[in-house]
Amino acid sequence: MIPFAKISMTDVEKKYINQALETNKICGDGEFTKKCTGWFKENCGINNFLLTTSCTHSLELAALLAGLKQGDEVLVPSYTFVSTADAILLRGATPVFIDIDKKTFNMDVNKIEEKITPKTKAIFPVHYAGVACDMDKIMEIAKKHNLIVIEDAAQGTLAYYKGKPLGTIGDYGCYSFHETKNYVMGEGGAIIVKDNDKYLEAEIIREKGTNRSQFIKGVVDKYTWHEVGSSYLPSDVLAAMLYGQLERADEIMEKRMHIWNTYHKSFESLEKQGKLARPYIPDYATHNAHMYYMVLPNEKIRNELMEKLKENGILAVFHYIPLHTSPMGIKLGYKQGDLPETEEYAKRLLRLPLYPDMTEEELTFICEKVHTILNTLI
Ligand SMILES: Cc1ncc(COP(=O)(O)O)c(C=O)c1O
Repeated sequence: MIPFAKISMTDVEKKYINQALETNKICGDGEFTKKCTGWFKENCGINNFLLTTSCTHSLELAALLAGLKQGDEVLVPSYTFVSTADAILLRGATPVFIDIDKKTFNMDVNKIEEKITPKTKAIFPVHYAGVACDMDKIMEIAKKHNLIVIEDAAQGTLAYYKGKPLGTIGDYGCYSFHETKNYVMGEGGAIIVKDNDKYLEAEIIREKGTNRSQFIKGVVDKYTWHEVGSSYLPSDVLAAMLYGQLERADEIMEKRMHIWNTYHKSFESLEKQGKLARPYIPDYATHNAHMYYMVLPNEKIRNELMEKLKENGILAVFHYIPLHTSPMGIKLGYKQGDLPETEEYAKRLLRLPLYPDMTEEELTFICEKVHTILNTLI
């Protein structure tokens, strides 16, 4: 079976994991956590970067820092992973779902303003498939209505909007290093905080509400409880794995990009025949080959293609069940028909296997099978 995703683990990661284990200091904020933070500063110019235990936790931390509370409304796509909406609900605030732009699967920026009320406090744009949202437009709306912007860049590490790293444009940016992402540490993530004072607050909340970060930096000689917090810092063993991946970032990106481009070229003819639509990358976006998806003419063809690929040993998958039509979305008062584009396109999207160590044989086999199956179906 050709899996949908597979981690790329080499001696580099193993060496660093062993080094971390040998330090006898495997809690959070050790040497490898520092190295990861330094890497993002050096390679992407990102400041105020904190490694976390997951993007889910980064989003929760951002929601805390943004001061979201009961009665606040937060604009968010329905076409996203549950964590984006959970972060809002955990603060007692209400997610207000926005429909997607069918070309990018990102939040439709033309449908944001009609959902703004006096209760609206923030926007959570999600950079689907590592392809940037129209951030100029989103920031302009946010400025006009005084809203906080929290970028869910779970899929957007090392992807850019007009040359700016995703996650650095809004007030807060959140990354994922989950095993299914481009650079992995098992479970893990990061938060980027624009404002320096908020960054210091983030350090405290991430460390159970203490100023331990200041203590580690030698700024204070003991640390103590400053505010309510939680534990959002990962073990340095996991940071060691991530650092290995970051050292291999160019190689991983190159391999992913090769697969993405091969799929894209191969399916051009099928797109011309109207049998599928390929991903659309706006001029302002530099994507990171996180995901290759295709949009089929209808749900039946999507499901048949997925089934037949499986019979041929290829694991292709779809996601997401739109949040507004999921059981929790229904509890929130939403119903089928509320977000037509999200509902329609969620049924037609199919994701193909994409992982750095995919062989040329596997890649050719998948391309050939998609052609053969679609040509018999349509
Ligand atoms: C858009 C989006 N947000 C949040 C998350 C949650 O990331 P994590 O698994 O690191 O908590 C994911 C993970 O798939 C995601 O795709």
